[in-house]
Amino acid sequence: MKILVLNGPNINMLGIREPGIYGKQSFVDLLAVLQATAEAENVEIDQYQSNHEGCLVDKIQQALGVYDGIVINPAAYTHTSVAILDALKAVAIPAVEVHISNVDAREAFRQISYAGLACKHTIKGQGLDGYRQAVVWLKEHI
Ligand code: DQA
Repeated sequence: MKILVLNGPNINMLGIREPGIYGKQSFVDLLAVLQATAEAENVEIDQYQSNHEGCLVDKIQQALGVYDGIVINPAAYTHTSVAILDALKAVAIPAVEVHISNVDAREAFRQISYAGLACKHTIKGQGLDGYRQAVVWLKEHI
């Protein structure tokens, strides 16, 4: 089973950006969580992070026929990007949306998720463990 983990803008700044909201763990720590998850769950995981919407759209399109599942934290693009929503719909690869913070308890504009409309499941507020939970969810449901 091959899973693509996609991270949107500023996720590379984990550990530096707003640690009170996103925690003190760094992006490198996130990569280590993904590697440990791949080994524990016996799945293949590729990770891609970009600060650019079109690059994320390109990666989603290129995932067609290659990956069995997508875990996506579109970050700020969650709340704005119809292009990412449409790309997820276009490839129709089972996808799980992850948010490190509990977006439900934050600003009103974070309550809207376009990408989430194309995802089968959403995990919010679980910190980096949310990525592991998303992989486990995909393993159990696809
Ligand atoms: C986020 C929540 C978004 O609202 C925010 O723009 C992010 C990260 C999260 O993981 O909690 O960059 O997706």
